[in-house]
Amino acid sequence: MEFRQAMLVGAGVIALCMPAARPAGGADPKPEITPALGHATASPVPDDLALPSPAAVVTPAPPAAAVDAMIERGAYLARIGGCNDCHTPLVPGTAGPEPDMDRMLSGHPESLAMPSPPALPDGPWNSLASATNTAFAGPWGVSYASNLTPDKDTGIGSWSEKTFVDAMRSGRHRGDGRPILPPMPWRNVARLTDDDLRSLHRYLTSIPPVRNRVPDSVPAASRVPR
Ligand code: HEC
Repeated sequence: MEFRQAMLVGAGVIALCMPAARPAGGADPKPEITPALGHATASPVPDDLALPSPAAVVTPAPPAAAVDAMIERGAYLARIGGCNDCHTPLVPGTAGPEPDMDRMLSGHPESLAMPSPPALPDGPWNSLASATNTAFAGPWGVSYASNLTPDKDTGIGSWSEKTFVDAMRSGRHRGDGRPILPPMPWRNVARLTDDDLRSLHRYLTSIPPVRNRVPDSVPAASRVPR
């Protein structure tokens, strides 16, 4: 995973450097060399030697490089946004629970059917989490972290960029459905810029798809937070 990301950074950096390196290498010498040539020959540059216009030489960054940069940015945002904390199941590790990166961001495991949450005694404790940290129960009902991988049937593979951005901005399922339940911190994610949200979406569509059908969340009948 780290290795793969390092490769992405490398590819992004190399690709992003290319357009900048080209003019420095002399392929677009018009601003500096044209006047010098003019002085040396004291005559107009013949048509067949005319330097190409900058527009013909300076190619925009290849789309692939721009996409790589967005993916890298999205990976960074996902790491600091803690998306793995709830969307990647925890498994017992040698030093305590650790995220199962073979199921990265695939949400609450389909195989782990959760019993009804036990009632909590009166007092300040009011919510519960599964050992995987992917299922949650509280005053909002029961919520299961969604599958964020690009699997078309069970993840967000069929979501458009707009659907993703609208969901994160509105706090509604797919942008126009029921309210997205706690503890999904959509109010924080909603504050990202459009470009950052698009990068996050790009990153999520670039990770390995995991087929895992997460159970539907169950909003509490009484009070649904807005
Ligand atoms: C504290 C736990 C937690 C964290 C951290 C978290 N999520 Fe979630 N997320 C959830 C839960 C739980 C749901 C399911 C909510 C529901 O079903 O209403 C969810 C749902 C979603 C959905 C589906 C929304 C929809 O329209 O149904 C998306 C997309 C999502 N999260 C993206 C993210 C991203 C991106 C990050 C990191 C920036 C993130 N989540 C961090 C718990 C979390």
